[in-house]
Amino acid sequence: MKSARLAAFTDAIEDIRIEEVALPTPGPGQVRVRMHLAPVNPSDLNFVHGTYHQALQRIIWNQGQRDGDARVFYDPAKTNPCPTPPYALGGEGVGVVDAVGSGFLARRLSGKRVAVASGPPHGTWQEYTLVDAKKAVILPDAVSDEQGAMFFVNPITAYVLAREVLKVPRGGWLLVTAAGSALGKSMVRLGKLYGFKTLCVVRSAGNSEELRRLGADAVVETDHQDLLTEVFRVTGGKGVGSAIDCVGGDLAAQVVRCLGLDGHLLIYGTLGKTPMQIPGRDLMMPVAHISGFLLPNWMAQQSTLTLLGVLRTVMRLTTQGIFHTQVTETYPLDEVANAVAAATKAGRTGKVMLRMAG
Ligand SMILES: NC(=O)c1ccc[n+]([C@@H]2O[C@H](COP(=O)([O-])OP(=O)(O)OC[C@H]3O[C@@H](n4cnc5c(N)ncnc54)[C@H](OP(=O)(O)O)[C@@H]3O)[C@@H](O)[C@H]2O)c1
Repeated sequence: MKSARLAAFTDAIEDIRIEEVALPTPGPGQVRVRMHLAPVNPSDLNFVHGTYHQALQRIIWNQGQRDGDARVFYDPAKTNPCPTPPYALGGEGVGVVDAVGSGFLARRLSGKRVAVASGPPHGTWQEYTLVDAKKAVILPDAVSDEQGAMFFVNPITAYVLAREVLKVPRGGWLLVTAAGSALGKSMVRLGKLYGFKTLCVVRSAGNSEELRRLGADAVVETDHQDLLTEVFRVTGGKGVGSAIDCVGGDLAAQVVRCLGLDGHLLIYGTLGKTPMQIPGRDLMMPVAHISGFLLPNWMAQQSTLTLLGVLRTVMRLTTQGIFHTQVTETYPLDEVANAVAAATKAGRTGKVMLRMAG
Protein backbone atom coordinates (compact mmCIF):
# COMPACT_ATOMS: atom_id res chain seq x y z
CA MET A 1 0.00 0.00 0.00
CA LYS A 2 1.05 3.62 -0.48
CA SER A 3 2.13 5.62 2.55
CA ALA A 4 3.25 9.28 2.92
CA ARG A 5 6.33 8.93 5.07
CA LEU A 6 9.08 10.97 6.62
CA ALA A 7 12.60 9.58 7.15
CA ALA A 8 13.80 12.33 9.52
CA PHE A 9 12.66 15.77 10.76
CA THR A 10 13.06 18.31 7.99
CA ASP A 11 12.13 21.81 6.82
CA ALA A 12 11.93 20.62 3.18
CA ILE A 13 8.47 19.30 2.42
CA GLU A 14 9.82 17.43 -0.62
CA ASP A 15 11.34 15.08 1.97
CA ILE A 16 7.86 13.67 2.56
CA ARG A 17 7.94 10.64 0.27
CA ILE A 18 5.36 8.20 -0.98
CA GLU A 19 6.60 4.70 -0.23
CA GLU A 20 5.21 1.24 -0.82
CA VAL A 21 4.85 -0.55 2.53
CA ALA A 22 3.26 -3.79 3.74
CA LEU A 23 -0.42 -3.79 4.68
CA PRO A 24 -0.49 -3.62 8.51
CA THR A 25 -2.33 -6.18 10.66
CA PRO A 26 -4.44 -4.83 13.55
CA GLY A 27 -3.34 -5.90 17.02
CA PRO A 28 -5.60 -6.38 20.07
CA GLY A 29 -8.09 -3.50 20.37
CA GLN A 30 -7.02 -2.02 17.02
CA VAL A 31 -8.82 -1.62 13.71
CA ARG A 32 -7.42 -1.20 10.21
CA VAL A 33 -9.08 1.58 8.23
CA ARG A 34 -9.09 1.88 4.43
CA MET A 35 -8.65 5.64 4.24
CA HIS A 36 -10.73 7.88 1.98
CA LEU A 37 -9.75 11.44 2.90
CA ALA A 38 -7.45 13.21 5.34
CA PRO A 39 -6.92 16.95 5.86
CA VAL A 40 -3.59 18.75 6.09
CA ASN A 41 -3.72 20.51 9.47
CA PRO A 42 -1.12 22.85 11.02
CA SER A 43 -0.40 20.20 13.67
CA ASP A 44 0.65 17.73 10.94
CA LEU A 45 3.52 20.04 10.07
CA ASN A 46 4.83 19.94 13.63
CA PHE A 47 5.45 16.22 13.08
CA VAL A 48 7.40 17.11 9.92
CA HIS A 49 9.54 19.91 11.35
CA GLY A 50 10.00 18.22 14.73
CA THR A 51 8.79 21.32 16.58
CA TYR A 52 6.37 19.27 18.71
CA HIS A 53 8.87 16.69 19.67
CA GLN A 54 10.60 18.28 22.60
CA ALA A 55 7.44 19.55 24.28
CA LEU A 56 5.41 16.41 23.64
CA GLN A 57 8.19 14.20 24.88
CA ARG A 58 8.04 16.06 28.16
CA ILE A 59 4.29 16.30 28.48
CA ILE A 60 2.43 13.27 27.23
CA TRP A 61 4.68 10.47 28.30
CA ASN A 62 2.14 9.22 30.78
CA GLN A 63 -1.04 9.53 28.79
CA GLY A 64 -3.46 6.67 29.09
CA GLN A 65 -1.88 5.44 32.33
CA ARG A 66 -3.60 5.78 35.63
CA ASP A 67 -2.16 6.39 39.04
CA GLY A 68 -4.98 6.64 41.52
CA ASP A 69 -7.04 9.65 40.46
CA ALA A 70 -4.33 11.23 38.32
CA ARG A 71 -4.74 10.49 34.62
CA VAL A 72 -1.62 12.36 33.54
CA PHE A 73 1.42 11.90 35.72
CA TYR A 74 5.19 11.58 35.70
CA ASP A 75 6.64 8.17 34.97
CA PRO A 76 10.41 8.24 34.41
CA ALA A 77 10.31 4.75 32.88
CA LYS A 78 8.22 6.05 30.01
CA THR A 79 10.10 9.08 28.81
CA ASN A 80 9.79 8.80 25.04
CA PRO A 81 6.33 7.90 23.79
CA CYS A 82 6.45 10.78 21.28
CA PRO A 83 7.28 9.02 18.01
CA THR A 84 10.45 9.76 16.08
CA PRO A 85 10.72 9.32 12.28
CA PRO A 86 10.74 7.25 10.19
CA TYR A 87 6.94 7.23 10.32
CA ALA A 88 3.72 7.78 8.39
CA LEU A 89 2.18 11.27 8.70
CA GLY A 90 -1.39 12.52 9.12
CA GLY A 91 -3.39 13.20 12.29
CA GLU A 92 -7.00 12.52 11.34
CA GLY A 93 -9.24 11.41 8.49
CA VAL A 94 -12.14 9.25 7.36
CA GLY A 95 -12.36 5.72 5.97
CA VAL A 96 -13.95 2.31 6.32
CA VAL A 97 -12.85 -0.35 8.81
CA ASP A 98 -11.70 -3.36 6.77
CA ALA A 99 -10.02 -5.52 9.45
CA VAL A 100 -10.31 -5.71 13.23
CA GLY A 101 -8.21 -7.02 16.10
CA SER A 102 -9.60 -8.75 19.16
CA GLY A 103 -11.94 -7.05 21.61
CA PHE A 104 -15.55 -5.87 21.63
CA LEU A 105 -14.79 -2.22 20.76
CA ALA A 106 -12.79 -3.21 17.68
CA ARG A 107 -15.26 -5.88 16.50
CA ARG A 108 -18.26 -3.52 16.66
CA LEU A 109 -16.52 -1.22 14.13
CA SER A 110 -16.13 -3.90 11.45
CA GLY A 111 -17.24 -2.55 8.05
CA LYS A 112 -18.24 0.86 9.47
CA ARG A 113 -17.40 4.28 8.05
CA VAL A 114 -15.42 6.02 10.76
CA ALA A 115 -13.67 9.28 11.60
CA VAL A 116 -10.27 8.50 13.09
CA ALA A 117 -7.83 10.38 15.30
CA SER A 118 -4.50 8.84 14.53
CA GLY A 119 -1.04 10.31 13.95
CA PRO A 120 2.56 9.15 13.60
CA PRO A 121 3.74 6.42 13.64
CA HIS A 122 0.42 5.16 12.12
CA GLY A 123 -0.64 8.30 10.25
CA THR A 124 -3.74 8.83 8.15
CA TRP A 125 -1.88 9.89 4.99
CA GLN A 126 -1.78 6.29 3.83
CA GLU A 127 -4.09 3.98 1.95
CA TYR A 128 -4.64 2.01 5.18
CA THR A 129 -3.93 2.95 8.78
CA LEU A 130 -4.09 1.24 12.14
CA VAL A 131 -5.91 2.93 14.97
CA ASP A 132 -6.97 2.13 18.51
CA ALA A 133 -10.71 1.35 18.35
CA LYS A 134 -11.27 4.01 21.03
CA LYS A 135 -10.02 6.63 18.56
CA ALA A 136 -12.49 5.74 15.79
CA VAL A 137 -16.04 7.10 15.76
CA ILE A 138 -18.84 5.77 13.55
CA LEU A 139 -20.16 8.56 11.32
CA PRO A 140 -23.88 9.03 10.68
CA ASP A 141 -24.94 9.20 7.00
CA ALA A 142 -25.74 12.91 7.46
CA VAL A 143 -22.03 13.69 7.83
CA SER A 144 -20.14 13.77 4.50
CA ASP A 145 -16.72 12.19 4.03
CA GLU A 146 -15.17 15.68 3.83
CA GLN A 147 -16.63 16.90 7.11
CA GLY A 148 -16.10 13.50 8.76
CA ALA A 149 -12.39 13.64 7.86
CA MET A 150 -12.11 16.81 9.98
CA PHE A 151 -14.28 15.63 12.89
CA PHE A 152 -11.66 15.29 15.62
CA VAL A 153 -8.97 17.96 15.71
CA ASN A 154 -10.74 21.29 15.28
CA PRO A 155 -14.41 20.68 16.22
CA ILE A 156 -13.59 18.98 19.52
CA THR A 157 -10.95 21.60 20.35
CA ALA A 158 -13.28 24.51 19.55
CA TYR A 159 -16.08 23.05 21.63
CA VAL A 160 -13.85 22.17 24.59
CA LEU A 161 -12.11 25.58 24.60
CA ALA A 162 -15.38 27.50 24.59
CA ARG A 163 -17.53 25.30 26.81
CA GLU A 164 -15.28 23.24 29.05
CA VAL A 165 -12.12 25.28 29.61
CA LEU A 166 -12.90 28.99 29.22
CA LYS A 167 -16.64 28.52 29.79
CA VAL A 168 -17.27 31.80 27.96
CA PRO A 169 -20.39 33.27 29.55
CA ARG A 170 -23.50 34.30 27.61
CA GLY A 171 -22.99 37.93 26.54
CA GLY A 172 -19.20 37.77 27.22
CA TRP A 173 -16.49 38.57 24.67
CA LEU A 174 -14.13 35.95 23.23
CA LEU A 175 -11.21 37.34 21.19
CA VAL A 176 -10.00 34.86 18.54
CA THR A 177 -6.68 35.31 16.68
CA ALA A 178 -6.10 33.71 13.23
CA ALA A 179 -9.89 33.81 13.10
CA GLY A 180 -10.01 32.91 9.41
CA SER A 181 -8.89 29.39 10.38
CA ALA A 182 -11.26 26.42 10.41
CA LEU A 183 -11.26 26.59 14.20
CA GLY A 184 -11.84 30.35 14.21
CA LYS A 185 -14.91 30.06 12.00
CA SER A 186 -16.30 27.26 14.18
CA MET A 187 -15.81 29.49 17.20
CA VAL A 188 -17.93 32.20 15.58
CA ARG A 189 -20.76 29.71 15.00
CA LEU A 190 -20.43 28.43 18.58
CA GLY A 191 -20.69 32.03 19.76
CA LYS A 192 -23.99 32.45 17.92
CA LEU A 193 -25.23 29.15 19.33
CA TYR A 194 -24.27 29.71 22.97
CA GLY A 195 -24.73 33.47 23.10
CA PHE A 196 -21.16 34.76 23.53
CA LYS A 197 -19.68 37.52 21.35
CA THR A 198 -16.70 36.90 19.08
CA LEU A 199 -14.03 39.48 18.29
CA CYS A 200 -12.17 38.07 15.30
CA VAL A 201 -8.56 39.08 14.65
CA VAL A 202 -7.16 38.43 11.15
CA ARG A 203 -3.98 39.67 9.52
CA SER A 204 -5.71 40.60 6.23
CA ALA A 205 -9.19 40.93 4.75
CA GLY A 206 -9.43 37.57 2.91
CA ASN A 207 -11.78 35.90 5.41
CA SER A 208 -13.41 38.99 6.96
CA GLU A 209 -16.60 38.97 4.90
CA GLU A 210 -17.26 35.31 5.63
CA LEU A 211 -16.59 35.82 9.35
CA ARG A 212 -19.16 38.64 9.41
CA ARG A 213 -21.63 36.49 7.47
CA LEU A 214 -21.18 33.69 10.01
CA GLY A 215 -22.02 36.13 12.80
CA ALA A 216 -18.74 37.59 14.09
CA ASP A 217 -19.56 40.56 16.34
CA ALA A 218 -16.38 42.40 15.32
CA VAL A 219 -13.50 41.80 12.90
CA VAL A 220 -10.12 43.50 13.29
CA GLU A 221 -7.68 43.40 10.36
CA THR A 222 -4.24 43.93 11.86
CA ASP A 223 -2.56 44.85 8.55
CA HIS A 224 -4.21 48.30 8.78
CA GLN A 225 -6.00 48.51 12.15
CA ASP A 226 -4.55 48.91 15.64
CA LEU A 227 -5.68 45.94 17.71
CA LEU A 228 -5.82 47.65 21.11
CA THR A 229 -7.66 50.71 19.81
CA GLU A 230 -10.28 48.53 18.11
CA VAL A 231 -10.74 46.14 21.05
CA PHE A 232 -11.28 48.94 23.54
CA ARG A 233 -13.57 50.79 21.11
CA VAL A 234 -15.71 47.70 20.48
CA THR A 235 -15.90 46.65 24.15
CA GLY A 236 -16.61 50.17 25.44
CA GLY A 237 -13.20 50.43 27.15
CA LYS A 238 -13.64 47.23 29.16
CA GLY A 239 -11.47 44.75 27.24
CA VAL A 240 -12.33 41.12 26.60
CA GLY A 241 -12.97 38.51 29.29
CA SER A 242 -11.53 35.62 27.26
CA ALA A 243 -9.09 35.22 24.37
CA ILE A 244 -7.61 32.31 22.44
CA ASP A 245 -4.36 32.60 20.51
CA CYS A 246 -2.63 30.23 18.10
CA VAL A 247 -0.10 32.72 16.64
CA GLY A 248 2.22 33.82 19.48
CA GLY A 249 4.94 36.50 19.20
CA ASP A 250 3.96 40.19 19.24
CA LEU A 251 0.32 39.40 18.52
CA ALA A 252 -0.10 37.26 21.64
CA ALA A 253 1.64 39.96 23.72
CA GLN A 254 -0.82 42.54 22.35
CA VAL A 255 -3.74 40.23 23.11
CA VAL A 256 -2.70 40.16 26.78
CA ARG A 257 -3.17 43.94 26.80
CA CYS A 258 -6.69 43.49 25.36
CA LEU A 259 -7.83 41.47 28.40
CA GLY A 260 -10.25 43.01 30.86
CA LEU A 261 -10.02 42.60 34.62
CA ASP A 262 -9.47 38.92 35.54
CA GLY A 263 -9.29 38.10 31.81
CA HIS A 264 -8.00 34.75 30.55
CA LEU A 265 -5.79 34.17 27.49
CA LEU A 266 -5.51 30.60 26.36
CA ILE A 267 -2.57 29.64 24.13
CA TYR A 268 -3.24 26.69 21.82
CA GLY A 269 -0.97 27.13 18.77
CA THR A 270 2.30 28.63 17.56
CA LEU A 271 1.64 29.50 13.91
CA GLY A 272 3.82 32.64 14.04
CA LYS A 273 6.82 30.56 15.19
CA THR A 274 8.10 33.36 17.47
CA PRO A 275 7.88 33.32 21.27
CA MET A 276 5.87 35.98 23.05
CA GLN A 277 7.47 38.51 25.36
CA ILE A 278 5.10 39.83 27.97
CA PRO A 279 5.85 42.67 30.39
CA GLY A 280 4.92 41.34 33.83
CA ARG A 281 2.77 44.37 34.57
CA ASP A 282 0.47 43.55 31.65
CA LEU A 283 -0.51 40.51 33.68
CA MET A 284 -0.31 42.07 37.14
CA MET A 285 -2.48 45.15 36.68
CA PRO A 286 -5.56 43.43 35.27
CA VAL A 287 -4.84 40.25 37.34
CA ALA A 288 -4.89 38.38 34.04
CA HIS A 289 -4.34 34.66 33.46
CA ILE A 290 -2.51 32.82 30.69
CA SER A 291 -2.73 29.07 30.25
CA GLY A 292 -1.89 26.48 27.61
CA PHE A 293 -4.06 23.87 25.97
CA LEU A 294 -3.35 20.68 24.01
CA LEU A 295 -6.36 18.54 23.12
CA PRO A 296 -4.79 15.09 23.72
CA ASN A 297 -3.70 16.17 27.19
CA TRP A 298 -7.09 17.61 28.03
CA MET A 299 -8.73 14.38 26.88
CA ALA A 300 -6.31 12.28 28.91
CA GLN A 301 -7.46 14.06 32.05
CA GLN A 302 -11.19 13.49 31.54
CA SER A 303 -13.37 10.61 32.70
CA THR A 304 -14.83 8.26 30.07
CA LEU A 305 -18.26 9.71 30.86
CA THR A 306 -17.13 13.29 30.17
CA LEU A 307 -15.42 12.25 26.94
CA LEU A 308 -18.48 10.38 25.69
CA GLY A 309 -20.65 13.42 26.48
CA VAL A 310 -18.31 15.75 24.57
CA LEU A 311 -18.08 13.37 21.58
CA ARG A 312 -21.87 13.03 21.45
CA THR A 313 -22.39 16.80 21.59
CA VAL A 314 -19.72 17.52 18.97
CA MET A 315 -21.21 14.87 16.65
CA ARG A 316 -24.68 16.44 17.07
CA LEU A 317 -23.29 19.91 16.31
CA THR A 318 -21.37 18.49 13.34
CA THR A 319 -24.58 17.12 11.83
CA GLN A 320 -26.09 20.61 12.36
CA GLY A 321 -23.23 22.20 10.37
CA ILE A 322 -21.75 24.15 13.32
CA PHE A 323 -18.24 22.96 12.42
CA HIS A 324 -18.66 23.02 8.65
CA THR A 325 -15.29 23.68 7.02
CA GLN A 326 -14.94 24.45 3.35
CA VAL A 327 -12.46 22.32 1.41
CA THR A 328 -10.72 24.45 -1.20
CA GLU A 329 -8.28 21.92 -2.71
CA THR A 330 -8.06 18.13 -2.83
CA TYR A 331 -4.85 16.35 -3.92
CA PRO A 332 -4.21 12.66 -4.60
CA LEU A 333 -1.93 11.02 -2.02
CA ASP A 334 0.86 10.87 -4.65
CA GLU A 335 0.95 14.70 -4.57
CA VAL A 336 1.37 14.98 -0.81
CA ALA A 337 4.21 17.54 -1.07
CA ASN A 338 2.03 19.82 -3.24
CA ALA A 339 -0.83 19.44 -0.75
CA VAL A 340 1.41 20.46 2.15
CA ALA A 341 2.76 23.41 0.15
CA ALA A 342 -0.82 24.54 -0.60
CA ALA A 343 -1.80 24.20 3.07
CA THR A 344 1.00 26.53 4.16
CA LYS A 345 0.11 29.36 1.76
CA ALA A 346 -1.22 32.54 3.40
CA GLY A 347 -4.73 33.72 2.64
CA ARG A 348 -6.45 30.33 2.27
CA THR A 349 -10.21 30.33 2.79
CA GLY A 350 -10.56 26.58 3.45
CA LYS A 351 -8.80 23.29 4.10
CA VAL A 352 -6.50 21.28 1.86
CA MET A 353 -7.45 17.60 1.68
CA LEU A 354 -5.62 14.42 0.59
CA ARG A 355 -7.60 11.75 -1.24
CA MET A 356 -6.31 8.17 -0.96
CA ALA A 357 -6.51 5.81 -3.90
CA GLY A 358 -9.67 3.82 -4.53
N1 LIG B 1 -3.77 22.90 20.99
C1 LIG B 1 -4.59 22.07 20.39
O1 LIG B 1 -4.99 21.04 20.94
C2 LIG B 1 -5.08 22.39 19.01
C3 LIG B 1 -6.10 21.64 18.43
C4 LIG B 1 -6.58 22.01 17.15
C5 LIG B 1 -6.00 23.09 16.49
N2 LIG B 1 -4.98 23.75 17.08
C6 LIG B 1 -4.34 24.90 16.44
O2 LIG B 1 -5.35 25.77 15.98
C7 LIG B 1 -4.78 26.60 14.98
C8 LIG B 1 -5.77 26.72 13.83
O3 LIG B 1 -5.90 25.44 13.21
P1 LIG B 1 -6.81 25.28 11.91
O4 LIG B 1 -6.69 23.90 11.43
O5 LIG B 1 -8.15 25.83 12.21
O6 LIG B 1 -6.06 26.28 10.92
P2 LIG B 1 -6.29 26.51 9.35
O7 LIG B 1 -7.71 26.30 9.00
O8 LIG B 1 -5.26 25.72 8.63
O9 LIG B 1 -5.97 28.05 9.18
C9 LIG B 1 -4.77 28.61 9.63
C10 LIG B 1 -5.02 30.10 9.79
O10 LIG B 1 -3.94 30.67 10.50
C11 LIG B 1 -3.63 31.93 9.95
N3 LIG B 1 -2.19 32.14 10.13
C12 LIG B 1 -1.19 31.32 9.77
N4 LIG B 1 -0.01 31.85 10.14
C13 LIG B 1 -0.29 33.03 10.74
C14 LIG B 1 0.51 34.04 11.34
N5 LIG B 1 1.85 33.94 11.38
N6 LIG B 1 -0.10 35.12 11.84
C15 LIG B 1 -1.44 35.23 11.80
N7 LIG B 1 -2.26 34.30 11.24
C16 LIG B 1 -1.68 33.21 10.73
C17 LIG B 1 -4.01 31.86 8.49
O11 LIG B 1 -4.39 33.16 8.17
P3 LIG B 1 -4.26 33.87 6.73
O12 LIG B 1 -5.62 33.67 6.11
O13 LIG B 1 -3.96 35.28 7.06
O14 LIG B 1 -3.16 33.16 6.01
C18 LIG B 1 -5.18 30.87 8.50
O15 LIG B 1 -6.41 31.57 8.60
C19 LIG B 1 -3.44 25.97 14.60
O16 LIG B 1 -2.39 26.66 15.25
C20 LIG B 1 -3.55 24.56 15.18
O17 LIG B 1 -2.31 23.98 15.48
C21 LIG B 1 -4.51 23.43 18.32
